[in-house]
Amino acid sequence: MVFQSLILSQENGSLKPVKVWMRIPIYVFILTWTWSCQPDEPPVTKEYPEPTPYTWIGKPFFPPPILPANNPLTLQGIELGRHLFYEKKLSGDNTQSCGSCHRLNYAFSDSLLRYSKGIDGIEGNRNSMALFNLTWHTRFFWDGRTASLRDQVLLPIQDPIEMHQTLPEAVRKISETPQYKPLFGAAFRSEEVTSDRIARALEQFLLTVVSGDSRFDRFRQNPVAHPLTASEQRGLDLFMREYSAPSTGRPRGADCFHCHGGHLFRVDAFFDNGLDEQPATGYEAVTGFPSDRGKFKATSLRNIALTAPYMHDGRFSTLEEVLDHYSHQINNSANLDPNLRVAYQTEGGLNLSTQDKQDIIAFLHTLTDSSFISNPTYQPPLD
Ligand code: HEC
Ligand code: HEC
Repeated sequence: MVFQSLILSQENGSLKPVKVWMRIPIYVFILTWTWSCQPDEPPVTKEYPEPTPYTWIGKPFFPPPILPANNPLTLQGIELGRHLFYEKKLSGDNTQSCGSCHRLNYAFSDSLLRYSKGIDGIEGNRNSMALFNLTWHTRFFWDGRTASLRDQVLLPIQDPIEMHQTLPEAVRKISETPQYKPLFGAAFRSEEVTSDRIARALEQFLLTVVSGDSRFDRFRQNPVAHPLTASEQRGLDLFMREYSAPSTGRPRGADCFHCHGGHLFRVDAFFDNGLDEQPATGYEAVTGFPSDRGKFKATSLRNIALTAPYMHDGRFSTLEEVLDHYSHQINNSANLDPNLRVAYQTEGGLNLSTQDKQDIIAFLHTLTDSSFISNPTYQPPLD
C-alpha cells in the first residue's frame, strides 16, 4: 500500500513501516480535517419546519403580480426582510438602515430632502425613490441600471455614499446578532446568514409592499358611493386626455396618461420629459444608445402628494412647480418625447391654465393611499 510506505516510524533512528493500530489516530485526524473543510452549510442547530407560503391578496383592477419563481414568498421570509429593511447594522457605522432614506410616512421615499445623505454625511445626486408596487417594475433606479430587485437591494449596502459596508462585513454583523438566528432559521430552515439570503429576504419584503387603496381606487370601484369633487373629476379628465393643438377645436388634454397611465399610474418605460436642453445620461447608461440619453424611469403618480421633492434630482419642491414645467418650461432636448414635442412646438408646452393645474393637482391628491402608510405590516418590527 502506497500509504503504508509513506508512514514510517523513526523509532531507534531507523525507518520501518508502522503497525496498523498506530495509524488510527492519523486516519481520524485526516477524516476530521476533511469534514471541517466541506463547503456545506453548518449543521442545523434546531429543526425548523417548512416556511408558510404567502398568499397574494390582489387589489381590484390590479394586474396579477409578477413573482420570482426561484424565491417563493413565505411569511417567515417576508418577516425577516422587514427586520433587515430596518436594520442599521447593514451600514458601516450602524447608523443607517434602508428605512432611513425610504420612510413609510412618505410612501417609502425620503423626507423633504432633495438628496439623501449616506452614513458619512455625503449627499448623493439622486432623489430617493418611493417604494411600492415594485412587483410590476422590470428595471430599478432612475436610470434603470438594475434589472432585478434581488440584485438591487445589495447595492445600497455597499454604496460608498450610502450605507458603505462590504457584504462580508454585513454578513458577519448579522450573524453575530443572536436575534437573527431564529429569523433566518424560520425563513431558510438554517440559521446561516449569507448575502444571498439577505437579498432574498429583502426582495420578499419589498414585493409585498403594495399600495392600491386610495380615494381614487374607491371611486373606481363605486363612483356613486365615493364620488370625486368637480375639480378632481376635471383634473382626471385632463390627465387622461391627449394633447390637441387649439386649432383642432378639441378640448385641451394634459397628456399625462401617456407615461403615467394604467392602473399603476406608470408605464414601465423610460422617457425624456424635457427637463433639460442638455440632459444627464439617464437610460443611455444601460443601453449605450445616444437615443436614450436623458430618458428616466416614469415613476408612479400614486402617492405623489407624499413624495416631494420631484424628479430624479429632486429639482421641483411642489406639484405646482411640476405642472409649471409641463405647461411652459419644457426643453427641446434631442430625445424629448414625441407627444410632448408636439405641445412644445405648438404652444411651448401643454399651456395649462391656472384652473387646469389646480384641478390636476386636486386629482393627484386622490391617489394618496393613507391605509398604505399606516399599514402595520410595513412598519419597523417592535422587538
Ligand atoms: C442614503 C439613502 C439610501 C439608503 C440608505 C437606501 N436607499 Fe434605496 N434609494 C436611494 C436613492 C437616492 C435611490 C435612487 C438612486 C438612483 O436612481 O441612482 C434609491 C433607489 C432604491 C430602489 C429603486 C426603486 C425603483 O423604483 O427603481 C430600491 C428598490 C431601493 N432604493 C431599495 C433600498 C433598500 C432595500 C435599501 C437598504 C438595503 C436602500 N434602498 C437603502 C436612497 C437610499
Ligand atoms: C413623455 C412622458 C411623460 C409625460 C407625457 C408626463 N410625464 Fe411626468 N414624468 C415622466 C418621467 C420620465 C419622469 C421622471 C423624469 C426625471 O426625473 O428625470 C416624470 C416625472 C413626473 C413627476 C415626478 C415624479 C417623482 O417621483 O418625482 C410628476 C409629479 C409628474 N411627472 C407628473 C406628470 C403630470 C401631471 C403629467 C401631465 C401633465 C406628466 N407627468 C406627463 C414622463 C412623463
